[in-house]
Amino acid sequence: MPARMIGTGSALPKKAFGNKELEKLVDTTDEWIKSRTGIENRYIAVEESTTSMAVEAAKRAMEDAGVGAEELDLIIVGTISGDMCFPSTACQVQSAILATNATAFDINAACAGFLFGLTIAEAYMKAGMAQTALVIGAETLSKMMDWNDRSTCVLFGDGAGAAVIKKEETGIEGIVQGSDGARGGALVCKNRPVNNPFVHNGFLTDYTKMDGQAVYKFAVQTVPRAIEEVLDKTGVKAEEIKYFLLHQANIRIIESVARKLNQPISKFPANLQECGNISAGSVPILLDFVNKSGKLVRGDKIVLAGFGAGLTWGAAVLTW
Ligand code: UT7
Repeated sequence: MPARMIGTGSALPKKAFGNKELEKLVDTTDEWIKSRTGIENRYIAVEESTTSMAVEAAKRAMEDAGVGAEELDLIIVGTISGDMCFPSTACQVQSAILATNATAFDINAACAGFLFGLTIAEAYMKAGMAQTALVIGAETLSKMMDWNDRSTCVLFGDGAGAAVIKKEETGIEGIVQGSDGARGGALVCKNRPVNNPFVHNGFLTDYTKMDGQAVYKFAVQTVPRAIEEVLDKTGVKAEEIKYFLLHQANIRIIESVARKLNQPISKFPANLQECGNISAGSVPILLDFVNKSGKLVRGDKIVLAGFGAGLTWGAAVLTW
């Protein structure tokens, strides 16, 4: 595979919002949230936006990689919560970091957005269409929550993560991805209704609605299968993997995947306790936490896996 990840970065809002503070807003308890999900805190955008956090994460990833903006020829942002319908978040990032030589676009694959972005960047490199790419997952999910709905608002947070990908002989060993639109109704946020000279459906927007148990079942069945598939495809054994970095939705999902893969939970770092579920931002933010803590050395093998609305999923094996 002709691509390597050479730098990571992340950005979180300043405002921390702990479970105890959330108890004052909705009919929930710290105990319920922690025991059902593992989440203790999340960060909420007050001064920040999806674009501002994406830009900050991008700058940090470029600094980590030692890559200048003019070297970038591709910018992909996975997001379901861009600040504008258009221009894309990726084009706004391009403008802010002065990456004048890049092609920039967003993709909507929800919590698998970073994995899908990685797949596209790698495919561009394989096709000879890119040399140096920036892949970002960035979200401001707090604006898409019904803050009276305890079944969703306690789960999600805001933030952005980014990685620089360079065309090289090895690094991204293999990726699998998939989607099942027939089950998409399990996790939904509607957009603007039709409004034109012939139809007036009002201007109300909708908030995030989730059939939590359906998504949970999907995750615990699909994620281990996708990881086994990508391990098979690359000929890498689970025992050779140093870390499995999974989408940060629920600690019980992560524990179930670890059990199914017969791997110790110590190989599954998590930051959902601090950050909650940041959709496309979760995997690259966790990756940056692990990278910046000095736990990755060149040659380490890691797995990344994302899953969520669509329904969508993706898993990758990387040599660091
Ligand atoms: O990023 C996209 C991927 N998303 C996911 O992977 C999420 C997957 N799903 C889950 O993680 C879990 O299904 C949830 C954490 C969302 C919910 O946990 P659960 O164990 O499936 O709970 P539940 O929905 O079955 O609800 C159990 C009870 C209900 O009360 P009754 O009907 O038993 O009286 C809910 O009303 O818990 C109640 N409940 C709450 N109670 C206190 C739901 N939310 C809350 C809350 N605080 N925040």
